[in-house]
Amino acid sequence: MEQTTLVQHIRQQENNTPGATGEFTNLMNEIMVASKIISLEVNSAGIGEDIFGLTGKINIQGEEVKKLDEFSDITFTKLIGQSGTVCAITSEEKDEPLIIEDNPGKYIFMMDPLDGSSNIDVNVNIGTIFSIYKKKSPGSEVTDEDLLQKGDQQVAAGYIVYGSSTIFVYTSGEGVHGFTLDPALGEFFLSHPDIIIPSQGSTYSVNEGNWAAWDEPQKDLVAYLKEEDDSTGRPYKLRYIGSLVADFHRTLLKGGLFMYPRDRKSPKGKLRFSFEAAPLAFIVEKAGGNATTGNERILDITPTGIHDRLPLFIGSKNDVEMAETRLAAKVKKGSWFQWLSG
Ligand code: AHG
Ligand code: MN
Ligand code: MN
Repeated sequence: MEQTTLVQHIRQQENNTPGATGEFTNLMNEIMVASKIISLEVNSAGIGEDIFGLTGKINIQGEEVKKLDEFSDITFTKLIGQSGTVCAITSEEKDEPLIIEDNPGKYIFMMDPLDGSSNIDVNVNIGTIFSIYKKKSPGSEVTDEDLLQKGDQQVAAGYIVYGSSTIFVYTSGEGVHGFTLDPALGEFFLSHPDIIIPSQGSTYSVNEGNWAAWDEPQKDLVAYLKEEDDSTGRPYKLRYIGSLVADFHRTLLKGGLFMYPRDRKSPKGKLRFSFEAAPLAFIVEKAGGNATTGNERILDITPTGIHDRLPLFIGSKNDVEMAETRLAAKVKKGSWFQWLSG
């Protein structure tokens, strides 16, 4: 049986790009190798390895750094930093961008090296999210023009889920494709070509434990999804893993609506633009879905800082549009951010 490997697929896509130099293929190769190393580590964690638990450090986001977070950050940084394909690496785990001075390339690499940290110790899916931009500013210096680009400037984005199997999903602008790791061969094979997200789903995904901290429009939206109404397929089912990458993967394949709205604890939202929202927005749009903050398309946003956070509503086109419409209707009634002033 003839099967396409990830390496072959990336090369074919680059061969179809006029003027391509192979630099992108090399970068993607390093991402793939790093993901295999992490997959192995995740799958053998606990067997003679002391990879569970905390490092004792606190990251820029004020969160405890788990050992696997740090291991993933170091693995990706080492392999990609030495590849000659990038001039900067930004990461959820790094306070400042890492500027590559030795043999820099033309790409900027951004990552959430380990997404779903709270699930590491409990054998629940975790993953890596990445995003690739091209250096924009003239000269060799890496500036904010390069590091704070509008979401729609991404050249490629992808994620890897380390789960019951390891799956690598990416888009370089032409379709969204998924590859499953054959652990015996150590090779990713095309398993999900040309992924298209259903235009409507039957599932919503949100941390409903935050209910009391939501504003009225958000409460109204979730209450609506739980109402019984055959004609609109409600109530929706609730699915929430707590690893964005895994919740997103399910949403991409099955359709539905994932939300991480702003709340009293996180007035700007919890998820990060560069490392979580923008790459997944790029992927979902290439698969026919939508991603917004509730009232603004994610890919239209230019961040002001590499660790910017924002609300995220992502998934099936109809479901995201329905969420936007309902939120906007409530805003018009004047209850938006009642709790902020209250
Ligand atoms: P990370 O593990 O990279 O810090 O990201 C955690 C994120 C995301 O994966 C998930 O959707 C969300 O945090 C879960 O947050 P809650 O525990 O607040 O629901
Ligand atoms: Mn994350
Ligand atoms: Mn993370």
